[in-house]
Amino acid sequence: MGKRVRTAVFPVAGLGTRFLPATKALPKEMLTVVDRPLIQYAVDEAREAGIEHFVFVTGRNKGVIEDHFDRQFELETTLEMRGKTKALDELRKDLPSAGRTSFTRQQEPLGLGHAVWCARHIVGSEPFALLLPDMLFKGNPGVLKQMMDTYEETGGNVIAVEEVPPAEVSSYGIIARGDGPDSNFAITQMVEKPKQEEAPSNLIISGRYILQPEIFTLLADQPKGAGGEIQLTDAMQTLMKSQAFTGVKYQGQSFDCGSKIGFLTANVVYALDRDDIREGFVAELRKLDLGEHF
Ligand code: G1P
Repeated sequence: MGKRVRTAVFPVAGLGTRFLPATKALPKEMLTVVDRPLIQYAVDEAREAGIEHFVFVTGRNKGVIEDHFDRQFELETTLEMRGKTKALDELRKDLPSAGRTSFTRQQEPLGLGHAVWCARHIVGSEPFALLLPDMLFKGNPGVLKQMMDTYEETGGNVIAVEEVPPAEVSSYGIIARGDGPDSNFAITQMVEKPKQEEAPSNLIISGRYILQPEIFTLLADQPKGAGGEIQLTDAMQTLMKSQAFTGVKYQGQSFDCGSKIGFLTANVVYALDRDDIREGFVAELRKLDLGEHF
């Protein structure tokens, strides 16, 4: 049984170079799937899993993320005056309550491992969840909740994984799978962005982690790895020598919203899932007569 996980870290300092020019002034985490920013989906997933403290590792140009998780009195007063109580309730529901968010900055883009290390003093000596908001998951329950259920049995470190076509493995961290069922199996190796022929499997690290605080000590001295960046995967591979890592092949669907195709697909799937949008959206899609493209 593991110590309870109360804190989640959201690395949001990335430059979003795959999404220019949209992300020149706008943080990529504020791109919307239907009408919610990507970062809001990640926060919602963490809250569903019981997280109480939300730590954002930001960078320059990311101030709007902080504003998004604050109250907006002018807007709230206007909605109130206009009797738009439903919209007002929705806005309030999305917001973690006072004192439950923290923001720190990664001053230089040195890699994911360095971004996580920047949160060390806020997290302290407790286990924590880590959510990469580019990766959007549609699952019921959400992926982090599924991982928490496993963590309650195993403690240690827990990583969400999924299969990708072998040609895509060099874009991700890859694990080797040991014994155990899909919801709780041993991870025996990890490697960041391997060549296809060197990858131990086609199971990728999906962007959701539960980690023990000893990772911070390793990250402090972690040499640069793949792409010249300080890689979290390399520090996890070292931590595996002294702590267990459990894999969860989660139930649900993922969208890599750091890529244009993933992002566009997510918008279609989430729109079709919305009771207030589906009918009108399908009618417009029909008019487009997309048949020739399929
Ligand atoms: C990061 C991690 C990688 C993981 C991926 C998931 O890579 O380093 O292990 O598979 O996120 O999206 P990045 O996408 O930052 O290159």
